[in-house]
Amino acid sequence: MTSSPRLTVVPSAGDVADQVARRIAAAITSNPKLVLGLATGSSPVATYQRLIQLHRDEALDFSQLTTFNLDEYIGLASDHPQSFRHFMQQQLFDHVNIDLANTHVPDGQCLDIEKHVAEYESAIATAGGIAIQLLGIGSNGHIAFNEPGSAADSRTRQVSLTGQTIRANSRFFDSVDDVPRTAITMGIGTIMEADQIILIATGDVKADAIGDAMLGPVSPDCPASLLRMHNDVTFFVDESASPKRDA
Ligand code: F6R
Repeated sequence: MTSSPRLTVVPSAGDVADQVARRIAAAITSNPKLVLGLATGSSPVATYQRLIQLHRDEALDFSQLTTFNLDEYIGLASDHPQSFRHFMQQQLFDHVNIDLANTHVPDGQCLDIEKHVAEYESAIATAGGIAIQLLGIGSNGHIAFNEPGSAADSRTRQVSLTGQTIRANSRFFDSVDDVPRTAITMGIGTIMEADQIILIATGDVKADAIGDAMLGPVSPDCPASLLRMHNDVTFFVDESASPKRDA
């Protein structure tokens, strides 16, 4: 069964961050042992800044939280400036009272990927499943590193990145040649098991992807459209990322 994701359109990227951070903070306050799924990339950065502010100003307590990140490049050490583990340390973990032992990011340097991804799935299950999963969206509709064509029931696994994603992410590297070609990503099936999903998109480069995800066919051609098979998903977008076409 498909449903319409809730669409919350607010004027600016700052308003998106305020609303999403407030929602996450309220969930942490009502359940300090919350299991939170986290994303990297530009989209959640302002939300993480708001969460850090709430920690400082309102004593938002991260000490009992457990987190699972969506993905990681294969081949990058955890302290590589472009690794997603490093990103999370810089953008959130180093600034709040989270117990690093309870933070999980796939290990891009693991020796046995099959074993590692199975253990990642088990760790999510052992933690009781993800209560809130935060997502960004690629301009090709990808979620995590589930590129177009990814199956709705895909699990955490090794994937190859598309040329479009490699080019988009090259803005964080010295050159496009430095962008890893493979990654570990939670699968769409893994993401869909979260109780609640919050997708953030800001800027006009995301408007077509949001339009396809919300109004196009539910199809692996646009992985984010598969979220419409989930019953609690909210797309938080600013005006420039809101879909520019009618249903
Ligand atoms: C990040 C991730 C990606 C990004 C997406 C959008 O962990 O899984 O799917 O959410 O590529 O990236 P930004 O936010 O940089 O536009």
